[in-house]
Amino acid sequence: MIRPILIHPDPRLKKLCDPVAEITPEIQRLAADMLETMYDAPGIGLAAPQVGVTKRVIVMDCIKEGDPEPMALVNPEVIWSSEDLSTYEEGCLSIPDQYAEVKRPAEVQVRWLGLDGQVQERQFAGLWATCVQHEIDHLDGKLFIDYLGPLKRQMITRKMEKLKRERARA
Ligand code: NI
Repeated sequence: MIRPILIHPDPRLKKLCDPVAEITPEIQRLAADMLETMYDAPGIGLAAPQVGVTKRVIVMDCIKEGDPEPMALVNPEVIWSSEDLSTYEEGCLSIPDQYAEVKRPAEVQVRWLGLDGQVQERQFAGLWATCVQHEIDHLDGKLFIDYLGPLKRQMITRKMEKLKRERARA
């Protein structure tokens, strides 16, 4: 089921999300819905707070061509970051059509709980590394625009407020 994506600014996007205590059918359904919502948007990553659920669940698939590689990560944690940084032009499904360069560690090691209840670990590089860090930030109420200067951030926020007013009228 495709769920509506919250648009910034929204207090639900600023919350610290709760860890998931156990993998339940509800969590599995949430992850499946989030993947469906992400592919439909389309996007390469989505965090639960973006669909109004303040739980530590993210989904992603950074494969642009070829077979899809849907991933669902519960309680994801960065356990190591490289000193090397890389810069990507980031966007966010909660901040449509706005992009800006953000500098982050180029590689990260992440540990999470899979939907099968097993602990998993993987090292991410390239776009995957940027994406997983962007999505984990969402679980801490942080958006990519929080890395920008105040003027740029305010400009984007005003555009989003206008977009929301227009959508509310439509
Ligand atoms: Ni985002």
